Amino acid sequence: MIIDDLNLFLSNLNVFYRKLQNYHWNVKGEDFFNAHVKLEELYNDVNEQIDEIAEHILILNGNPLGTMKDYLEKTQIKEANNEKIFSKEIFENILNDYNILLENAKKVKESADNEKKYATSALMDEYLLEFSKVIWMINQMLTK
Ligand SMILES: [Fe+2]
Repeated sequence: MIIDDLNLFLSNLNVFYRKLQNYHWNVKGEDFFNAHVKLEELYNDVNEQIDEIAEHILILNGNPLGTMKDYLEKTQIKEANNEKIFSKEIFENILNDYNILLENAKKVKESADNEKKYATSALMDEYLLEFSKVIWMINQMLTK
């Protein structure tokens, strides 16, 4: 079901937002300034995605989940710990999360196509591109 798939996506994005900001606060090491700024850019993008996905659920006459309790029950994203961490470990970790989000967007697109919700399907194309781009960039960064 498209609404369920979108609510799973929304739950993941919400937990991921909290995780990225946690990393923004706790990143340490020589490249602190770069990583700190980049993480803020990433969580600001996710914040906009959260609003867009929730409102898209409303456009489809569904009910977007709105509590942390709901999100934590559903999410596939593992939260970060409250501890100082080097950027390499952060980016390795969130690379996995971006792949989960990419899979979410693919699943929503497939459900949308099955249910003839073509606007939703088209919207997911933007997410597929966006997440693929971030995944490419993080891979470049982690390449030795
Ligand atoms: Fe900040």
